[in-house]
Amino acid sequence: MGIRAKFITIISVLSLLATIAIGYTSYMFSRQNALADAKSKGEILFNYIEASGTFFGRYQKPLIDELVTDKDRFIPELMSMFVVKRMEYDLFSEAQKGYQFKQATIDPLWPDNKADADELKVIQYFASNPTAQSKDGIVEKGGEQFFYAAKPVRIEKDFCLNCHGDPASAPKDQLDIYGSDHGYNWKLDDTVGASMVYVSISPALALAKKSALKVFILGIGCLLVTIVCIWVFFDKAVVGPIVRLSETAKDISIGKNLCDSVHSDVKDEIGILANSIDRMRISVNKLLKRSCPDRKQE
Ligand code: HEC
Repeated sequence: MGIRAKFITIISVLSLLATIAIGYTSYMFSRQNALADAKSKGEILFNYIEASGTFFGRYQKPLIDELVTDKDRFIPELMSMFVVKRMEYDLFSEAQKGYQFKQATIDPLWPDNKADADELKVIQYFASNPTAQSKDGIVEKGGEQFFYAAKPVRIEKDFCLNCHGDPASAPKDQLDIYGSDHGYNWKLDDTVGASMVYVSISPALALAKKSALKVFILGIGCLLVTIVCIWVFFDKAVVGPIVRLSETAKDISIGKNLCDSVHSDVKDEIGILANSIDRMRISVNKLLKRSCPDRKQE
């Protein structure tokens, strides 16, 4: 393999590795940004939903309890914080796609709140870590990747059991609407579910992949240009002169063209080599006691 091919091979391999590393780093960087972005969006949404629930519990519920004194009367939209949050979110999601909110529960009153396998794991985590107040991560749902943030739902107050304890003591209206099969017999201190906010990260990840690919293609383009430049440069500055000098050395070795000077004024390695060969030419000429007509050998 010639010096030029060796050099180009080394440069190509190193540049290719560098391009792959830059492309990968660019992807990881964009991915990290996408996750940080999803996390902050998730937090904003979560805080808003929580604030809406707190407003209901702190200000509206006591007033409603004053107005509705019959314990069997139950109007979900007016009397359950979980219904208020769910229905408010449904309206929000009509205008804002790419997010999901779920009050994932092991055994819910409202069937759509039933936790799936991944959500059950999150609830399990909160159940085995009673001090944990939040958890987040990445999960795949229906082929799409989501960032999720979760908060536990624990039965910390007795009054929860008025509606989720023994179905016999639940409001009659609630039994009419939800039946008595699911969402009951919860116990104090049980971790019954988790509030979950999902933010889709698939579009951002696809974008990250696309820009990493662009960086890679650009890198390969630069590499090809570099190879062409190195090829041309090597031809002019290294390979051509070396081939010419080796021809000269060969000629000198057989006593040919001993009067043709190859002296060079270029101050690089090729110049040094040319001048050494030239000195050798002169020495050989002297040894052979030949003279050049115009003394151009010196
Ligand atoms: C007045 C009755 C009532 C009280 C009191 C009540 N809930 Fe509920 N809860 C409901 C109803 C009805 C739903 C169904 C929500 C829906 O339709 O989305 C519900 C839903 C839930 C859900 C979502 C899962 C499901 O069952 O659909 C959780 C979790 C929950 N409640 C926890 C609590 C906690 C914790 C408390 C106490 C702080 C509490 N609830 C107090 C009536 C009540």
